[in-house]
Amino acid sequence: MPSRLPHPVPYQGSKRVLAARIGACVPRGVDVWFEPFAGSAAMTLWALEAQVARRYVIADVLAPIAELWTSIIDAPAETARRYGTVWHGQKPGDRDYFNVVRARYNAGCDPVDLLYLICRCVKNAVRFNADGHFTQSVDRRRLGMAPKRMTAAIAEASRLMRGRTEVRRGDWIATTADAGPRDFVYLDPPYLGTTIGRDRRYVRQLQQVDLIVGLEDLHDRGVRFALSYDGMTGEKTYGAALPASLGLTRLLLDAGTSAQATLSGRSERTIESLYLSPGLKPPSVPCSALQEAAGPSS
Ligand SMILES: C[S@@+](CC[C@H](N)C(=O)[O-])C[C@H]1O[C@@H](n2cnc3c(N)ncnc32)[C@H](O)[C@@H]1O
Repeated sequence: MPSRLPHPVPYQGSKRVLAARIGACVPRGVDVWFEPFAGSAAMTLWALEAQVARRYVIADVLAPIAELWTSIIDAPAETARRYGTVWHGQKPGDRDYFNVVRARYNAGCDPVDLLYLICRCVKNAVRFNADGHFTQSVDRRRLGMAPKRMTAAIAEASRLMRGRTEVRRGDWIATTADAGPRDFVYLDPPYLGTTIGRDRRYVRQLQQVDLIVGLEDLHDRGVRFALSYDGMTGEKTYGAALPASLGLTRLLLDAGTSAQATLSGRSERTIESLYLSPGLKPPSVPCSALQEAAGPSS
């Protein structure tokens, strides 16, 4: 993503770094662009800048994320002001401030509190327990995005999105139910490997079987889509194969050095898969940036 594009919600796992390369596979002249697993909505911000669609829909099952986006789009100055107030509340030596905000968020679900928690928590990696409570801890080495930078990012995101972007809240099947053949859906569901079991990265878990049923429905309705799904870091592969009956083309994108591996003293690259629905053509770009895999997944 060109650095001029705003990124007010610094989610770990954001598609910010890959946005331009994923964008190279996206059709132009789209009627409605959908991003139903929005998180930081990095791809939608890219698509708005690239003007690929007439209208945009972002959605997330996590209600405070959806509310945060509504607030960023409709009330940028007030949202930035409130973020500044929460951020300036942290004082040197006050080791408990983050936990106070976290407890307040878990009681009231204020989206601006969530924004502060995302900015200040370990590796910007949100974590929730089974009750939907935010459980990630504070990163003591950083203060989180400074209010001045946040104000600029919010203002620019609002400028790009306002009047063209609808925010929805809910499960992706429901929030893309009205997508049709002239539309395009970009999907970045939580990885199964990181969300099922003890490591609950996102508030809602997604079963592969539900994902496949939803993809088959998009396919049957003639909706074009791209899916960021599985990948590999070093020797480790994550994500299960998708059925060949979907007719998807799988591309491999080099997402760069794995931050997690670097922290553990290893230098490993992360490769992410991008699956394209039938009819979408991979672009012709140098293999180092984008490499077509052996064929459709099976
Ligand atoms: C991998 S993150 C998306 C990151 C995003 N692409 C970005 O650039 O920041 C997955 C998001 O999907 C949301 N989510 C999880 N299950 C969902 C579901 N069933 N329907 C809609 N959203 C869901 C999570 O709350 C999370 O924000």
